[in-house]
Amino acid sequence: MAAHPQDNPVREDGPARRDRLPEQLGPVAPRNALSRRQILSCALAAGAGLALGRAARGTAAAAAAATTVTTPTADSLFHLPLITKPIPATGERLPAIGLGTDKFYDSERAAIRDEIARMQQLGGTVIDTSADYGESEGLVGDVLSSLGIRNRMFVATKLVAGGGGFFGSFIGGRPSFERSLTRLRTPRVDLLQVHNLDGVDTLMPLMQQWKQAGQIRYIGITTSDPSQHGDMVGYMRRYPLDFVQVDYSIANRDAAMNVLPLALERRIAVLINVPFGYGSVIEQAESRRLPDWAADIDVTSWGQFLLKYVISHPAVTCAIPGSTQTRHLVDDQGAARGRLPDEAMRQRMERFWDSA
Ligand SMILES: NC(=O)c1ccc[n+]([C@@H]2O[C@H](COP(=O)([O-])OP(=O)(O)OC[C@H]3O[C@@H](n4cnc5c(N)ncnc54)[C@H](OP(=O)(O)O)[C@@H]3O)[C@@H](O)[C@H]2O)c1
Repeated sequence: MAAHPQDNPVREDGPARRDRLPEQLGPVAPRNALSRRQILSCALAAGAGLALGRAARGTAAAAAAATTVTTPTADSLFHLPLITKPIPATGERLPAIGLGTDKFYDSERAAIRDEIARMQQLGGTVIDTSADYGESEGLVGDVLSSLGIRNRMFVATKLVAGGGGFFGSFIGGRPSFERSLTRLRTPRVDLLQVHNLDGVDTLMPLMQQWKQAGQIRYIGITTSDPSQHGDMVGYMRRYPLDFVQVDYSIANRDAAMNVLPLALERRIAVLINVPFGYGSVIEQAESRRLPDWAADIDVTSWGQFLLKYVISHPAVTCAIPGSTQTRHLVDDQGAARGRLPDEAMRQRMERFWDSA
């Protein structure tokens, strides 16, 4: 089956991925060891005439109990609160991890149905598809309808203006949008986006009409190409956008310099695509050991490390990692739980990444 090459310029050439479940990534070292200095300072504070050796042992145990950082397991993450972020235009909150679907194919219908059902059980709601993702829209529509969960999910799709733009001969404009509604089996999509900025000026007035008519709730534009970031910010200044969708990862930080500051300033929600660099970034990460301090932000896998980096940017509303395997989806949804990195931790993550 055909891939969607415009969205995925590198994956055909990438080396085979070594997919591993969080529990297969190996144990994270316990984080309860005390330094000799800590033990000694506990002992001094305890005082009371005990022999130094005994005091050090006793107070060390007490201090360890008080300061141990529990290493989370993948399962324990789902007992932690779900991270949600507001859409600035309305205040509506979205879970910070969604699902990208550009590799959804009919031949994997049963697996995709299980994956989406699992996502909904775990609290995820955001599903990103496109008129141009082959069988994806139809599959998403069928699955949501058969599971009876359409109204609980936030469905985003895309279109182009048509007539030989970025996507060549694909249909665009109104016929494309009507086909999307049919395929998605819904009278309304939550977010309609101009795919790869193809025809923004043409489509924007139409999309505003559809929004007023209640056929779409939010309007957005997308790119996954840093060379389009300049054009994207031009449109962000020109039109009343609710959302932008842009490429961003720990290995691709251009958007943080050139797009995300304006999104914050203009109160535009942000979806992040290709957070794993089409899979190549996670593959690169998995050749390294996850640092022990990842436990301090409730991270149990490289997938979660990469996603927590992305969603902790203040401008980011939701990341939409693509996955066709439920075990990946569960791993990714784990990044929507627990603590987020603060600015100091984000810089530590960057230094660690850059040191490879
Ligand atoms: N211009 C645009 O508008 C545009 C462009 C590109 C993408 N997008 C959207 O963004 C979404 C994400 O992009 P993408 O799917 O191309 O790339 P991606 O999210 O960067 O990477 C997807 C790859 O990562 C793998 N993966 C996912 N979770 C994993 C985990 N926990 N551990 C190991 N591997 C994991 C997936 O494998 P499996 O499939 O085997 O699970 C898949 O091969 C797309 O699906 C699409 O919805 C939009």
